[in-house]
Amino acid sequence: MTEIANDSAEKMDLRAALIEKIGGYMTAHAIGVVAELGIADLIKDEPRAGHELAAESGTHEPSLRRLLRTLTAVGLFTEPEPGHFALTDVGSQLRSDSPDSLRAFSRMFCHPILLRAWQGLGHSVTTGERAFDHVHGKNFYSYVADQGDANRLFNEAMSEESRIAAGQLAAGYDFSHAKKVIDLGGGDGTLLAAVLSTQPHLRGVVFDSASGVAEAPDALKRAGVADRCEALAGDFFQDIPEDGDLYIIKSVFQDWSDEDSRALLRSCRSQMPDSATLLIVGSVLPETASTDQPIMFFTDLNMLVNTGGRERTESEFRVMLQETGFDVRSVRLGAAGPLSIIEAVPAAAL
Ligand SMILES: C[S@@+](CC[C@H](N)C(=O)[O-])C[C@H]1O[C@@H](n2cnc3c(N)ncnc32)[C@H](O)[C@@H]1O
Repeated sequence: MTEIANDSAEKMDLRAALIEKIGGYMTAHAIGVVAELGIADLIKDEPRAGHELAAESGTHEPSLRRLLRTLTAVGLFTEPEPGHFALTDVGSQLRSDSPDSLRAFSRMFCHPILLRAWQGLGHSVTTGERAFDHVHGKNFYSYVADQGDANRLFNEAMSEESRIAAGQLAAGYDFSHAKKVIDLGGGDGTLLAAVLSTQPHLRGVVFDSASGVAEAPDALKRAGVADRCEALAGDFFQDIPEDGDLYIIKSVFQDWSDEDSRALLRSCRSQMPDSATLLIVGSVLPETASTDQPIMFFTDLNMLVNTGGRERTESEFRVMLQETGFDVRSVRLGAAGPLSIIEAVPAAAL
């Protein structure tokens, strides 16, 4: 047998590295189907035979087995004996009953609505326009608001995404000086419920559009904080509650262009009391790209495609806040899960 020349082995590695990345869209489709079918809920804690899983999920056994084998190859399942599948720790996050569930998140981000929008990435890169609107004929939030199931799924996905950051913010930020916290664009209230649960002295308002806040009353009740927290529908570019002393905005600015983000900050600045504090919770991009946290850059691209917004660096946040009448008090990188916390106060009040 001839030995493979070193340079050929290197070339094979390089080819494999690129080809594996190209397969990323196949992985996303495969995860979307498995999440949609609820396969992880059928497997739970013990390995299950492929034919049982196929019967219970109403699928074609040989094809389901090929799907599960492929996701075994990328670490979501194991195949302890031929044709039997168990969940890994990564795959277990597809279980609906897991407190760390990302099933709704997986179903949303692998949903045809978003996959179709991503097919327009080239359009966005060529024109700078939102591919979502180009493909679906409306902007993301208007489109999703009209689709009951997708709207519920989006709100649930955001709630799942928020859990770790919510827990870390609740445990790590000093809320002792606040009395009333307003979460702007707060979705179903997951973040505020986590904060109020650990801070019995606080009252709160989850503020979002009518479709965004739709699930909040139930979620706040389930969390046992409904007596201290109100869910309010409105447009944060127009009217926000004026009686808070702490305003939180999590994972919102990345949805918006610089112009819209400045408009939102001005809306906050003109309506929040001078003595109030603003907490921006979200990704803060490093000044240069590297392989350290690719997800941040994918999220940025996701915003280019779907909402027309963008992720920002610390210096970009600082400039935007300064232009709209805020002083930055602190920037804590990675203080809320993978997300960062920027604390700002109305400029005159510093
Ligand atoms: C990416 S989600 C983040 C939700 C939540 N803060 C979280 O981190 O889970 C952005 C939120 O902004 C809300 N939103 C969008 N436009 C809005 C508007 N004009 N007024 C109020 N909320 C709005 C959406 O409904 C959505 O809940």
